[in-house]
Amino acid sequence: MAENRDKKDKHFPLFAHDNPLRRLFISPRKYCSLVKKDQTVADLGCGPGYFSIALAECVGVKGRVYAVDSDEKSIRAVERKAAKLKYHNIDAHASSAANLSFIEDGSVDFVLADGLLCCMAPQTHQKAVSEIKRILKPKGKAFLGVAKGSMSYVDKAEWEEILSGFKVKQRNKESLLKGRQALVLKN
Ligand SMILES: C[S@@+](CC[C@H](N)C(=O)[O-])C[C@H]1O[C@@H](n2cnc3c(N)ncnc32)[C@H](O)[C@@H]1O
Repeated sequence: MAENRDKKDKHFPLFAHDNPLRRLFISPRKYCSLVKKDQTVADLGCGPGYFSIALAECVGVKGRVYAVDSDEKSIRAVERKAAKLKYHNIDAHASSAANLSFIEDGSVDFVLADGLLCCMAPQTHQKAVSEIKRILKPKGKAFLGVAKGSMSYVDKAEWEEILSGFKVKQRNKESLLKGRQALVLKN
């Protein structure tokens, strides 16, 4: 669609995704139950690393977390946090999730894409979804979450199309507050 071509990646101030209020309602360890020690994780659209830092702690020193965001400032924030905590297992990249050429095929156990696709320029969604499939191990899983409503770049029809390319393990009852979320496996 012509109007979609004008939509650019959305970026946010750092405090929008890491602040004391968020910590009251959503634990940074929210996704830790989906990973095991020594695993490789890709947090795509990681923002300032709210979940990436906790995931790095959960996979441990022999694990690895790729923290990827197209916003340079967010990636610098992740790097600062990792340096302060002396976490050496975080690989932060300022890059679009539509180009993950620095991640090998079939090398990732868990992809987190919480709020990614609904903020990504629509013309790049397909590429990002195929990158997610490419980097996942055959038995890897991904958590996909998109906002609902008029501000979201992913509508219901596109969401269903994205999910049809995966094996859906679990999905939520959609709501305006939680948006659309699904835990998926490679098809
Ligand atoms: C709603 S925020 C979610 C941040 C983070 N996942 C969290 O929950 O704290 C969406 C993030 O996606 C990033 N983003 C937007 N377009 C992107 C793209 N093409 N590639 C990677 N990240 C992108 C934004 O910069 C922003 O940090």
